[in-house]
Amino acid sequence: MRRKLLLGNWKMNKTSKEALTFAKQTDELVKIAKENNVDLGVAPTYLSLQIVKENVSCDMIVASQNCHFEDYGAFTGEISIPMLKDIDISWCIIGHSERRSYDNETDEKCNKKIKALFANKMVPVYCVGETLTQFENGQTKEVVERQIRIGLKDLTKDEVKNLVVAYEPVWSIGTGKNASKEIAEDVCKFIRDILCDMFGEVSEDIRILYGGSVKPDNIKQYLSCPDVDGALVGGASLNIDSYKQLLINII
Ligand code: PGA
Repeated sequence: MRRKLLLGNWKMNKTSKEALTFAKQTDELVKIAKENNVDLGVAPTYLSLQIVKENVSCDMIVASQNCHFEDYGAFTGEISIPMLKDIDISWCIIGHSERRSYDNETDEKCNKKIKALFANKMVPVYCVGETLTQFENGQTKEVVERQIRIGLKDLTKDEVKNLVVAYEPVWSIGTGKNASKEIAEDVCKFIRDILCDMFGEVSEDIRILYGGSVKPDNIKQYLSCPDVDGALVGGASLNIDSYKQLLINII
């Protein structure tokens, strides 16, 4: 049985002080989540990771929004996995569409990062999804299949059982145009089938999230889909009341 997962992606929002204020209000939320078998998490900016990690309720997941695949070296502006581990961060989002479009994050680069994360016993949240043009041209599955097959190439069954995949159609991110629950289920089921083809039965243990304009008033429909195990939420995860409402609406 896969546990539900609600993960907030704060992107480039919140100063450390603002992140701290949020972190200090998480005890009640985590209590509700635990009682209802839901895992809760947030992904703050690098600058706020440590302060959030030290101040959230201890069972809350704190994820990085990115990492480099090398441990150290001449990579100005980058952060390595050992640096994240040093402050007890064990989750990391990889391949978010904003990084794919603004920072040349290719499937091959994502693969290197995911391998490095697994080598360090960390949990990658691998984001995939098609652009509006690809959606309109009926290429969703072709694009997603390529992202999955290259991004997860050469991983072991043992590693991927801890993987999280997030299906986020690019046209739905931050646009208010959320995908229908039928699209979400169809693509998430398709992703699970590819995972099954690549890794066998363990695909049943892999959590697949939907993301893209998820709000308190539309989250429930996604979680009612058999292959959608949770949500990756941007805008609606920034405010503590809205975050709480997301949680309440999926339990
Ligand atoms: P959104 O972002 O909920 O603001 O659409 C989702 C995401 O980018 O993960």
